Amino acid sequence: MKTIKLGKSNVDVPVIAVGCMRMADKSVEEARAFLDTAMGAGLNFFDHADLYGGGKSEEIFSKAIGMNDDVREKIILQSKCGICPGKVMFDFSKEHIIKSTEGILKRLNTDYLDFLLLHRPDTLYEPEEVAEAFALLKDSGKVKHFGVSNQNPMQMRLLQKYLGDEPICANQLQFSITDCHIVKQGLYVNMREDNAIDRDGGVLEYCRYEDITIQAWSPFQYGFFEGVYVDNPDFP
Ligand SMILES: NC(=O)c1ccc[n+]([C@@H]2O[C@H](COP(=O)([O-])OP(=O)(O)OC[C@H]3O[C@@H](n4cnc5c(N)ncnc54)[C@H](OP(=O)(O)O)[C@@H]3O)[C@@H](O)[C@H]2O)c1
Repeated sequence: MKTIKLGKSNVDVPVIAVGCMRMADKSVEEARAFLDTAMGAGLNFFDHADLYGGGKSEEIFSKAIGMNDDVREKIILQSKCGICPGKVMFDFSKEHIIKSTEGILKRLNTDYLDFLLLHRPDTLYEPEEVAEAFALLKDSGKVKHFGVSNQNPMQMRLLQKYLGDEPICANQLQFSITDCHIVKQGLYVNMREDNAIDRDGGVLEYCRYEDITIQAWSPFQYGFFEGVYVDNPDFP
């Protein structure tokens, strides 16, 4: 399996990450079969969020993978916080980030995360609070590296100003063959048509320029979870 350095972290990760959003729908046995298959293919980088299944995805994952020190050494764990489970509300307060991360660690049955991402922008947040939360989590060894999801370049620049030397390593974005505007808009610059509309402030170029790894979310879905396009007659 080809690997890349994730952003400026110096951590080698497989180019294919395993999304665990739908794991809450699986039994522990089904999840184990899924994880065995993934690990057998060299896929040891797992993406979670406190939101997925209201925390159940992380719990099933740790049971299915049989989390212990030996297993933990062989895998790379990423999770996300900042969307309040059960509410349509975003919260980047220091208190929320710390509390969410502690819940994530408990459910995953581990002492640390390799990567923690802010899930979706809480636009009126106080960036100083995020910087304080990240510093506390890093100093206590609970999180090694940080990133964001669904953020545009100005949002990342604002946060980076307060994070100082702590790099934003990743930005997880909606990206698939059917939702590829981050790439497509660059092909239509300056043309009088909708494809030329810049919806994300040049996030592709910004991430490449700043060595922030773009992670694709829902690579097989079209629209916003409308269904998969693979073998779908609407997408011959
Ligand atoms: N940051 C964010 O805001 C955000 C948002 C959404 C998702 N995510 C992350 O992205 C990950 C992937 O997203 P996703 O779960 O929507 O993944 P996806 O890979 O786009 O879609 C998964 C679905 O595709 C089906 N599928 C996969 N391969 C297929 C094939 N060859 N033929 C037909 N169907 C196929 C699976 O069906 P079966 O289950 O039947 O195999 C599953 O239902 C999530 O797990 C999560 O980690 C992040």
